[in-house]
Amino acid sequence: PTAAMEAPTAATSGGALPDLGGKEVKIAVENAYPPFNYINPSNKQGEGWDYEAWTEICRLLNCKPAFQESSWEGMIQAVGNGQFDAAADGITITDERKQQVDFSDGYIKVDQRLLARVGETRFTDMKSFVADSALRMGTQTGTTNYETAKKQLPEARIQAFEQFPFAVAALINGDVDAVIMDETAGQGYVGTSGDKVQLVGDPISSDALGFIFPKGSALVQPVNAALTEMRTSGKLDELAKKYFSA
Ligand code: ARG
Repeated sequence: PTAAMEAPTAATSGGALPDLGGKEVKIAVENAYPPFNYINPSNKQGEGWDYEAWTEICRLLNCKPAFQESSWEGMIQAVGNGQFDAAADGITITDERKQQVDFSDGYIKVDQRLLARVGETRFTDMKSFVADSALRMGTQTGTTNYETAKKQLPEARIQAFEQFPFAVAALINGDVDAVIMDETAGQGYVGTSGDKVQLVGDPISSDALGFIFPKGSALVQPVNAALTEMRTSGKLDELAKKYFSA
């Protein structure tokens, strides 16, 4: 992944960052999407890239992050409805979603990849996967990864799960033969189950991830200013190294 992605909008003029006056920001996280957000099994606390990034954003903007667990399904809609001030969940910036929510600038670019079982011999990439009609693809409902699978495979060959951890469990036990997901998320599973799963094939698509906000939210510009500062200061690179290097 490329962490130091260029800001698509104009950078701040090096002046002071906006001051949110200690405001609490309610941020939806799934807590089932490592390394972005997950529950640390030893202390039962939420942690991950999203937690650290928003702690830094609020340090820069003088706000207070209040993380709230929410299921992925319906999350974009919930933010669109104003139930949260933002969501941080490795969310791909798409034109379709922009009808419902506002996005921050992209903070990382990720490739979509296939996660396969170690020792898999029937396919080596998306093309050979598609060619073997016996093979089944797992992914998470409502994701761009699901959309990518649907473009290449009949729906009968796709199994959509409520969470990625369930899809990866199904891969390991043989219910599906590959999981299509963002590489950053896949690397997390290689890190924890590298004896069982591996990333295979070429990148299938490359997408920018951003935070989402209710449409017209006054937070978008301050958060973009903070992201610009974090790009300049090296903080985004530091966080990418900590959470996204395989
Ligand atoms: N980047 C993909 C998308 O936006 C997957 C995101 C999944 N995020 C999650 N928290 N489960 O559709």
